[in-house]
Amino acid sequence: MKPSRREILKMAVSSGSVLSLPAIESGCVHGRPQPRLMTSRAPLPKPFEATLSRIPVLKPVRLDSSTDYYELTAQQATAQILPGLATRIWGYNGGFPGPTIEARSGHPVSVRLRNALPVPIVNHLHGGHTPPESDGYPTDFILPAGFVLSDMHDHMARIVQRQRDYVYPNQQRAATLWYHDHRMDFTAPQVWRGLAGFYIIRDDEEEQLRLPRGEKEIPLLICDRSFDSDGSLLYPSLDPSLLKQAGVPHEYMGGVLGDVMLVNGAPWPRLEVANTKYRLRILNASNARRYELALDPVPGGGAPFLQIGSDGGLLRSPVAHRSVKMAPAERFDLVVDFSKYRIGSSVTLRNQADDGPMGQIMQFHVTRQEPDESTIPSELSRIAFPDPAQAIATRVFNFSYRSMAGWTINGKPYDPARMDARPKLDTTEIWRLETDFNHPLHLHLVHFQVLSHSGRPGPYDAGWKDTIDLGPGQTANILVRFTGFRGRYVFHCHNLEHEDMSMMGNFEVV
Ligand code: C2O
Ligand code: CU
Ligand code: CU
Repeated sequence: MKPSRREILKMAVSSGSVLSLPAIESGCVHGRPQPRLMTSRAPLPKPFEATLSRIPVLKPVRLDSSTDYYELTAQQATAQILPGLATRIWGYNGGFPGPTIEARSGHPVSVRLRNALPVPIVNHLHGGHTPPESDGYPTDFILPAGFVLSDMHDHMARIVQRQRDYVYPNQQRAATLWYHDHRMDFTAPQVWRGLAGFYIIRDDEEEQLRLPRGEKEIPLLICDRSFDSDGSLLYPSLDPSLLKQAGVPHEYMGGVLGDVMLVNGAPWPRLEVANTKYRLRILNASNARRYELALDPVPGGGAPFLQIGSDGGLLRSPVAHRSVKMAPAERFDLVVDFSKYRIGSSVTLRNQADDGPMGQIMQFHVTRQEPDESTIPSELSRIAFPDPAQAIATRVFNFSYRSMAGWTINGKPYDPARMDARPKLDTTEIWRLETDFNHPLHLHLVHFQVLSHSGRPGPYDAGWKDTIDLGPGQTANILVRFTGFRGRYVFHCHNLEHEDMSMMGNFEVV
């Protein structure tokens, strides 16, 4: 049913070779495909007219002493994203973003995911310390009822029909996680259609702090999308049914960029705020777009952002930033103090990585005076990183584009049958990551410490990370401890087009 990966790549390469030369050149630098803009055909809305919505928090269907039980259905739904147009999306419980799951550290959550879509799906909890059978290995499909899979060569795949129960032990510290689709070869289009949501873990350590909370703690899912003239989502799939052929034409192999900025599903929204501190849990849920967040105007008296957390929860102590660079899948937990602005001010969250409409993200309107009970202590959390001297192995992984093979790791495209590393349970390793190009690199199961990032750790590498953004020609050493579970997991580039077009590898904890 599905062409083999080699056939797909041959296709992609040969479809590129018949394009006119200027098109290839504009899409490639030194032969590497660059991310490319998909231009909307729908009229784009004026910025800052939509209202930011708060993503609903999912209610458990049942609780017992051991576990909270949730149910999600991946289904088609109609959303109102652009004014006057209806957009068909694929959403968890029909929402884009999906509902937020709130979990307690140490208290397991079980999610029953039903597949009401016409294609296989897989769910992955990104940042989760999850046993392999619930991690969402890319071939662990939930097939639609009655779906016949004609060609499947991963004999380890755990394939079910209609629904699966994912169990998340939550034996991990408070952090901003997210869940998203992870179907092999089709993650990019399925996330683009809406299959992503927040999963927030809370714990006592964090709650003892008086960080901004309640309505002053806001998860913001930022992503770019493009729209056809009828309001439907526009994406350059070779096969829009997502049933047979995977991938996108060669000129989009570097990544697909949208020209509409969405925050919590609304285009360039606005939010009224009080003149107090707010905690913004920001997720870059884009397929391929990087952001550099900044505030305009810059507030008086210091840096606009105080970073309190990263992918894996609170930092040891806050880090002040003038701007924050974010690659796909990274999370930054940022405090913004609106008391630095006068009542009546409009404050734009900008994206300095782009100009024009995509240089803006959303706008805050400081409309009311309120007492501020929150404080940001200079010590946020105790973090015990492993000792680099304990590392028992160093592994080198090179992430690069090869003209005959596509996006590769150590020259090889993803193959579920190949094991790229077998770390031992409860041991520590150093992974040396090298890139030819921008690649946000992600490991399942673990969080890691960045030891070096083409020199010293970069300004955005503090705390526990699960995704690290490497620029062209960079090298990073990360310190990883493999704990909790034995089994097979993936690591990959989180530019979703790179991931689908084979920049993924396997490791097995033994
Ligand atoms: Cu967020 Cu393997 O992914
Ligand atoms: Cu992950
Ligand atoms: Cu990449």
